[in-house]
Amino acid sequence: MPGFNVKSIREKKCYLSTHIPPYIYVLTSRHISHIVVKMVYSRLFVVTIALCVSLSFAAVIDSKLNASPKVQSRTWDQAIALAKSLVAQLTLDEKCNMTAGIGGPCAGNVLPISRLNFNGMCFQDSPSGVGDGVLQSTAFAAGIHTAATWDRDLFYQRGAAIGKEFQGKGVNFALGPMMNIDRNARHGRNWEGFGSDPYLSGENAFYYVQGLQDQGVVATIKHYICNEQETNRFYGTPHSKTRQSPSNSKGYSANLDDKTIHEIYLWPFAAGVAAGTGSVMCSYNQINETQACQNDKTQNGLLKGELQYMGNIMSDWGATKTGVESALGGLDIEMPGGDGYMGNSLEQAVKSGTLTEARVNDMITRVLTPYFLLSQDQGYPSLDLNRDATGDNYKINRQVSAAGMVLLKNTNNVLPFNVTADKNIFIYGTAGQSDDGLGSGSWGGHPGVLYQGGGSGYVEPTYGLDPLTSLMARAREDHLQIRYVTSQTDYGAINGSFNTRGFSSAKCLVFVSAFSSEGSDRGDLNPFGNGNQLVQTVASRCANTIVIVNSVSQLNLEAWIDLPNVKSVLWSGMPGVEYGPALVSILFGDYNPGGKLAFTLAKNDADFGTDISTTYDSNYTEGVFLDYRHFDQQKITPRYYFGYGLSYTNFTFAQLEITQASNDKHSASSQFQQRRMRHYSNFGSSGLNVPAYEITFTLTNVGNVDGSEVPQLYLGFPAEAQEPPKVLRGFERVYLAAGESKQVSLVLTQKDISYWNVVNQKWTIASGDYTVWVSTSANNADVKLQSSFHI
Ligand code: BGC
Repeated sequence: MPGFNVKSIREKKCYLSTHIPPYIYVLTSRHISHIVVKMVYSRLFVVTIALCVSLSFAAVIDSKLNASPKVQSRTWDQAIALAKSLVAQLTLDEKCNMTAGIGGPCAGNVLPISRLNFNGMCFQDSPSGVGDGVLQSTAFAAGIHTAATWDRDLFYQRGAAIGKEFQGKGVNFALGPMMNIDRNARHGRNWEGFGSDPYLSGENAFYYVQGLQDQGVVATIKHYICNEQETNRFYGTPHSKTRQSPSNSKGYSANLDDKTIHEIYLWPFAAGVAAGTGSVMCSYNQINETQACQNDKTQNGLLKGELQYMGNIMSDWGATKTGVESALGGLDIEMPGGDGYMGNSLEQAVKSGTLTEARVNDMITRVLTPYFLLSQDQGYPSLDLNRDATGDNYKINRQVSAAGMVLLKNTNNVLPFNVTADKNIFIYGTAGQSDDGLGSGSWGGHPGVLYQGGGSGYVEPTYGLDPLTSLMARAREDHLQIRYVTSQTDYGAINGSFNTRGFSSAKCLVFVSAFSSEGSDRGDLNPFGNGNQLVQTVASRCANTIVIVNSVSQLNLEAWIDLPNVKSVLWSGMPGVEYGPALVSILFGDYNPGGKLAFTLAKNDADFGTDISTTYDSNYTEGVFLDYRHFDQQKITPRYYFGYGLSYTNFTFAQLEITQASNDKHSASSQFQQRRMRHYSNFGSSGLNVPAYEITFTLTNVGNVDGSEVPQLYLGFPAEAQEPPKVLRGFERVYLAAGESKQVSLVLTQKDISYWNVVNQKWTIASGDYTVWVSTSANNADVKLQSSFHI
């Protein structure tokens, strides 16, 4: 590509190779002698193979774990036994007191028992770094940004880096990951989560949990469940003393059916449980008219029953509404305590016989088990929230930041810049630091960059590298001329810039942004401060307008996307404090963009078919037809499809083969399993996670620069399953040097090919033809390979 300013292929190969997940199994010709494709497999055959595969895992798993223990984790059985022996030494008073948090240095604190050398436990936000105003921690790229990398290795590495900081400060439980589904584009907390698809969210959750727990920090997957809006997350009941007081209020009710909860909203939580999470946080809302934290069906039925979850359920802060009812409904610990529902109040209930001591023992055993599971009883750092454990985490933060940016439009290859020709760069909009320091996690209307969204998910940055500063540094290096107007409303200056020297040959970068926070939903899907007008104004004069979208979640681009001068659009997402360098590396071609949207961008807001409810009921009547599944079903063309994103290079796909999962220890299926096994994981306990099929194909980078592609496996089910036209069931981010080819294998598990059967209450494999599409987005026009198998 002319003017492509990159390091040498050799250097880049090294850089890229560090991204390649160890479990991508690259097939050699030796392995391609599989029995292949389109065989008619009987269900019995599939089940038999599954059993053989699962039996053979034990040996493989042990050798893997012995090879690389980071934390001397224990098995759940060992941890439960240790927790029980501690519980056996507690008085009833101590046990009951331990069912609620106490005051202390952390967001949540568990009662210490000094006579037993138990120092209590610290629970602290957030999903994107150590939060709650703590200093000396890294403000990482947000969950939604990480999801857009579609890179499991980065999911894991980011989780591990976050884990190191929690561990370094001596925090026992991290209050993350957040994995509520982006059902409503305006949801104020979408930036904390992993987008609109349960499979993509589940993979993110899985690797986040393992990254964190491999550092000895307990993950708290949240918010369980169906917490997809902020509006009416608390509202007063007739008996409320105050309408907004959490302890006297209810949350809106998410009303949905059995198939929908299993296939969409429970899916990522199931992945988190399979990964081995020690903790789950129940949410503020109700599910089918029962508060989440006292919901027997979702907590005892689905989570502790069906998913065989052995850890604890803690309430979101102020989400406990009853005492005994919550304890019986599955809640194990009330947070942050002080509501008077659990804790000491339960002692009376035990004495009067409304709650058994056995249940209290179970609650406390569950609270303590994760502590022993991750061996926090053996030399875990003492608590010091000021301790600096950031190390060189800025490096992984920068990688995630660059990898999660999505190139949406690039007419005439206007990007990357050619530093010999593109000498004049004009910058408009929210490219610089906000005018109140690095921001406070609340939106004061300051027109600056956004590193993260707001609320309890926000991490106080130690520094922030904004695009304007990073572009200046680049200008010095490459002798470029930079001009800027960062006030979005100063049209005198903006219009004046069009008449300045150099403008006629300028590349114009227009920065627009959208903020949101916990506690409220967005009013609309427009950018802040009339950003649409800003883009239109610049594009009316600048022939090479490049829009950078710094947004918490979906935005409506229609006001300017088709303007002929809007040549390029780069979605910079919610990129953390390494925003500037990450962006510059893409603009100048040092990093070839490869991120993909973790949600659909609609042409009309109403096209999503789902929105925030302003009543106290949020009816999930769309069922499983959410996001691209809904656009498919309704045949609506979005602006940009789920999974979409461009690169500076091109790829070809060939030779699709579908084989049954192999238990050969070098096979993709075995690698897939080994990568996920830990002492603390529950991955092997369910036959559902056993590989069923391997989908293999050859991917080639046919361009002349290195880059990455994310092949996405969409599955079409037989009619019996009553599934949407297609659902995501596999992906892999594959990094290839220019001209390089690889064979890639994606693994379909038993669960991936099943649907939730509401009659027999089981994941069920449907009979008939399954269609496999390997695509580069949810757009049918992007399908590269297609085949099918029959069951
Ligand atoms: C949020 C949780 C958070 C908790 C503790 C709540 O308001 O919903 O996500 O972990 O506060 O700060």
